[in-house]
Parts: sequence; C-alpha cells; structure tokens
Amino acid sequence: MSPIPKKILCIGAGYVGGPTMAVIAAQCPQYKVTVVDINAARIKAWQTDDLPIYEPGLSDVVKKARDRNLFFSTDIEGNIKEADIIFVSVNTPTKTFGEGAGKSADLQYWEKTARDILKTSESDKIIVEKSTLPVRTAAALERILHPNDKGIHFDIVSNPEFLAEGTAINDLLNPDRVLIGSRESARGKKARQEIVDIYTNWVPRDRIVTSNIWSSELSKLVANAFLAQRISSINSISALCEQTEANITEVSYAIGRDSRIGARFLNASVGFGGSCFKKDILNLVYIAESYGLYEVAEYWEQVVKMNEYQERRFVRSMLKALFNTVAGKKIALFGFAFKANTGDTRESPAIFITRRLFEEKANIVISDPQALDNARMDLDDIVDRISFEADPYKAAEGAHAIAILTEWSDYKSLDYQRLYNSMHKPAFLFDGRNIIDRDNLFKIGFNVYSIGNPPRTHFEEP
Ligand code: UDX
Ligand code: UDX
Repeated sequence: MSPIPKKILCIGAGYVGGPTMAVIAAQCPQYKVTVVDINAARIKAWQTDDLPIYEPGLSDVVKKARDRNLFFSTDIEGNIKEADIIFVSVNTPTKTFGEGAGKSADLQYWEKTARDILKTSESDKIIVEKSTLPVRTAAALERILHPNDKGIHFDIVSNPEFLAEGTAINDLLNPDRVLIGSRESARGKKARQEIVDIYTNWVPRDRIVTSNIWSSELSKLVANAFLAQRISSINSISALCEQTEANITEVSYAIGRDSRIGARFLNASVGFGGSCFKKDILNLVYIAESYGLYEVAEYWEQVVKMNEYQERRFVRSMLKALFNTVAGKKIALFGFAFKANTGDTRESPAIFITRRLFEEKANIVISDPQALDNARMDLDDIVDRISFEADPYKAAEGAHAIAILTEWSDYKSLDYQRLYNSMHKPAFLFDGRNIIDRDNLFKIGFNVYSIGNPPRTHFEEP
C-alpha cells in the first residue's frame, strides 16, 4: 500500500455512495475518486446532467469534481485493482427468503462484492463498510478475505453514513459527527487513521469519532432506531391527542423545549418511510433475537408496529370521515415521496395508503413534484387504474378529498380557495404532515383532519 493512498473506489452508486463520493472528491482534489456500479444505466446517468437521484445541491458538487478527480465507471474489476481504499455502499435490504426472512439483512451483495475484491486484488487495500451492516459483519468479512493465498492484506474499517435524503449535501459537508471504527491492532489503527485523514480535509477533528469496529457497526443501527423511536413515540401520542382535544404540535413544542428531550424529530406524521428506518430496526430486532435477547427485540419491534398502526389509522380516519365509503370517490394524494426534497419513495407511507384506498375502490390521483416516476414503479401492478398528475390544481379538480402525504413546502403555499372551488362538496382535507393552517382551511369551507388534532368539520361528527 502506498503511504498516502491516492485512489479511492466506491462500489455502489446509490443514494449513499453517489453523494458521499461526490463530496469527498469535491473536498479532496488530491484523491482520485471512482464510483462503480453493476447498474450501467445508473452510471451513465451519473455522467450526465440528468443525475439518477434528486438531491438539492448535488449537481453543483458533482459538476465541481466530475472528470477532474471524480469518475463514474462500470469497470468494477479494473478499478478494484487500482484502488488503495474501497468504500462499499451496495444495498443491504431486508431478507425476503429463508432464515430471518422479513427481518435480517440480506448480505448477498456484500458477500459477492467481498469475493470480487478478493478475486481481483493484486495489492493490500482498506475496505470501508459504508453500507449499514449488522454488528459483527466485519468478522465475517475477515473470514472471507483472510487468509488468502495471494499474500494480500485487507484492513476493514467501518464508516457508516448518517446523511438524510433531501439534506444530504449539507449533512455531508457539515456532519454532526463522522464515525470511524476499526480493529484496535496497530494495523487496524493505521487503516482507521487513513480514513480520518480523508475527512479532516473539511471536517473539524473534534467531529470525527473513532471507536472499535463493533461499536461503529452497531451505532449506525442504534442511531436509526432512536430516530425512528422518537417518531413512533410522538405518533402514539397523536392518537391520544385526537381523542382529548390536546394539540400534538403544542405537545411536541412543550416537551421539545426540555433540552434533555430536544426539539427536533418530534413532528407527528402519517408515518416514517425511507429505505433505512424499518430495515435497520428489524435488523436490530433480528440480531437481538439471535442472541436470545427477546425483551430487547420486542421493545424495538414496537417502533415498527406503531408506525404501521399510524398508517392504518390514517386510512381509517379518511374512510370514517368520508361516510365509510370511498368507492368511486376521487381522492387527490399530494405527495408520494417518503419525505420532502427527494424523489425517493422507498417505504413511503404513500404506498400503503394508495393501496388501501385502491382496495376500497377509490378513484386515486397522485401528485408529487419529483416522485411520480418512482410512484409508477411502486404501483406497477395497478398503474393503469391510477392517475398521475404533477400539477396539484389539476389533480384536485372534482375531488372529494385531498390527502397531504409529503411535507413539500409547495403544498404550504397553494391557493386553497382555488382548490376548494374546484372540488366536489363537501370537500375534505386530510393533512398527514400537519403543514397547513387548519383554521384558515376550515374558514374556506374544508372539513379538516390533521394528525394529532380533533377534526374541524362543518357538521356534527358521527
Ligand atoms: C442502501 C441503504 O439505504 C443503506 O442503508 C445501506 O447502508 C446501503 O444501501 P442506498 O445508497 O440508498 O443505500 O442504496 P441504493 O440506492 O439501492 O444503492 C446501492 C447501489 O449498489 C445500487 O445502485 C446497486 O446497483 C449497487 N450494487 C448492488 C452494486 O453495484 N453491486 C451489487 O452487487 C449490488
Ligand atoms: C434517516 C436518518 O435520518 C439518517 O441519519 C440515516 O443515515 C438514514 O435514515 P432518511 O431516511 O433519509 O434518513 O430521512 P429522515 O429525515 O430521517 O426521515 C425519515 C422519515 O421520518 C421520513 O418519512 C420523514 O418524513 C419521517 N419523519 C421525520 C417524521 O415523520 N417526523 C419527524 O419529526 C422526522
């Protein structure tokens, strides 16, 4: 290995690998950074101005470094050979088959990637776990990679990524912390230092946290579990607010002012989505079960169950408000992405809600500024029987109800009088993100239902 590694490779050009490497390349012109992927169409898109993912600020960062020291390629073998440091950011979905199906992480892509690295390498390398992995994965990797008859040494470092979609570039440029774990041996610590040296190009040293490799692997799962737990906690209280005339926004504010609790991540919602929370919690549950820690497993599984309850509750409240039937009624869904400022729809609550309303024979129109292509793919089996309309005003024409499922800021500033005028009466609005002014919409004439507040209707509730 050269004393100052110059060639960084990332395997996996997805929502994590792509933006992370773009920022590393932009901040560290002294490294040559290459991103490879088995998906040739994805790589091609990274080479154009029409990037494969929507992320505010990403295209500027990519343009700064692309073809200078940032390259996208499908030549996986050639680039493995060249690389000094290999970040692996391939996906680790929930296993859908066999032992652990529905909970455990499916590590087949990771293992295959490790075997490709072993087969192709001709020199020592640092392998960085960028994907979220079960704790103790590094031990399995070491067994695959060592001993090998090539006399090559691989050091494994864990460097989980904490970026959130929609704010990825800011999260990468100004991270709360960067976590880097390794073996505590002299070799392990040297490898760890090489990864620290990349980040100190722009991250203050006191924001770089180093640890043993198992703490690092586990911390990523635990961070996501704690974040999701806050949402499930506040969502559970939203159900109670709806029964008691307490207002969830006021409750969130009041508890969040306690600095021990903190104000962020306390927005009640239709439920959390995204590729990570559910997958990582279920993985944590599976790991706890596999060590016989059943109480621990049950405790965390409740976070996912509460989220599913919240999604079901939202549909139930729509049905009840709409006189127990939506058959033949036009329902406009505003937002399909799992959160604002992304086109990503993985595990979006909108998928469940659309499918349930479809079962109830509603006439569904989906609107979203960025996520309609992904929505069509998520609903491919029923896509011909659903409408897609980017313009929210057109989507709501003649609708019985609007349901806001993503907190796009555009939806806060729509002309709700205009929407109301074009809708079927009585007109209903279900705010799954608590972003609209309830009093104002009620005055316009809407029957307003929001999360964690009693409904505001122009008639007696049944
Ligand atoms: C995902 C998860 O969200 C995250 O928790 C996990 O830690 C890593 O995987 P993300 O970047 O969002 O992160 O996934 P995705 O957009 O699916 O990107 C993974 C990429 O890896 C895909 O482009 C896929 O084609 C590529 N891949 C997968 C390979 O290049 N080789 C493989 O063998 C498998
Ligand atoms: C998350 C973690 O935040 C990030 O650190 C990790 O690397 C990957 O997983 P992400 O899934 O991209 O990031 O988005 P996040 O902002 O965490 O939102 C996840 C879901 O929770 C979204 O559906 C969002 O709308 C929802 N949410 C978030 C709430 O319902 N209420 C809140 O208060 C915050």
